Amino acid sequence: MTERLLSGERAGDEEGLEPTLRPRVLAEYVGQEKIVDNLRVFIRAARERGEPLDHVLLFGPPGLGKTTLAHIVAHEMGAPLRTTAGPVLERPGDLAAILTNLEPGEVLFVDEIHRLGAAVEEILYPALEDFRLDLILGQGPAARTLRLELPRFTLVGATTRAGLISPPLRARFGIVHRLDFYPPAELARILIRSSSILGIAGEPEGLAEIAGRSRGTPRIANRLLRRVRDFAQVAGQKSVDRDIARTALAALEVDDHGFEELDRRLLSTLIEVYGGGPAGIQALAAAVGEDRGTLEDLFEPFLLQMGFLQRTPRGRVATRRAYEHLGYPPPAGGGGAGPLFS
Ligand SMILES: Nc1ncnc2c1ncn2[C@@H]1O[C@H](COP(=O)(O)OP(=O)(O)OP(=O)(O)O)[C@@H](O)[C@H]1O
Ligand SMILES: [Mg+2]
Repeated sequence: MTERLLSGERAGDEEGLEPTLRPRVLAEYVGQEKIVDNLRVFIRAARERGEPLDHVLLFGPPGLGKTTLAHIVAHEMGAPLRTTAGPVLERPGDLAAILTNLEPGEVLFVDEIHRLGAAVEEILYPALEDFRLDLILGQGPAARTLRLELPRFTLVGATTRAGLISPPLRARFGIVHRLDFYPPAELARILIRSSSILGIAGEPEGLAEIAGRSRGTPRIANRLLRRVRDFAQVAGQKSVDRDIARTALAALEVDDHGFEELDRRLLSTLIEVYGGGPAGIQALAAAVGEDRGTLEDLFEPFLLQMGFLQRTPRGRVATRRAYEHLGYPPPAGGGGAGPLFS
């Protein structure tokens, strides 16, 4: 798969930079005000009681700041952080080894928590609820249970697929938050911070141009900023102004709404082949030659949120806004949600 400029997905070239651009404390975390305000209260209350924070579940599309928030929670609690991920914890023993090695108060971050196997989830339940581990040793009549006390800890789970978390697991999190796409003004604030860290002079109009095309996603905003910086540098310009941002974004084929080729292809297939829908996601995925999960995780959330696409019980439907944006004559009587941010 070629690198996607506009997907929220992590890309290889960012691994070194992401930690530098990542805010370290709640005060630096831009936007998501409700979550931040709540977390501030919960963290302070837990600290005053001298207890670990309740378990936290964060969900939302890629690149919106879940991992960042997990790091911040540990930092604000003054606790060490250990990171793992659902797919890494293949057997119950893998999780048991981590849990029994935790320090009191430690924050355990489990990314992609929807990908935990059933057997692993099973031993997680009592660990989350009562800080104990019930290990079954042996098989058949000789099997016995070994019960271990665990230190009290905080689990922070992150997922892009809230729907795939089993209800019993979800029920064990005291704090559950959904991250939303960021409005352009907040992305612009993130870009001000990022450009100063990267040592680029960014003019407000230049940064606003980038912010407006970043699909509500900080990771994409930071990525576009770095590409625009390249154009500015090669053009011998000291700062990112609106002209260079426009030139660069046009060269990168990022349109006014931050659409990339697949967004356009997805919507035009829906309109041309399926008469605007409804069409099943599986059929659409096959028609555009893309994996269903990729469409659901990386493309749909933004198109739904921005009112280009609607999800109905009978399938996906292109909205009036999609027709207009792609230059098709408007559908008879059709028309969906208006823009969320304009
Ligand atoms: N609220 C924010 N304020 C400032 N920068 C942010 C914020 N949220 C995210 N970022 C920036 O975006 C980058 C991506 O965020 P992060 O890695 O936390 O996303 P994620 O939700 O964990 O994504 P994934 O689902 O792919 O793991 C961070 O390195 C950081 O630079
Ligand atoms: Mg992450």
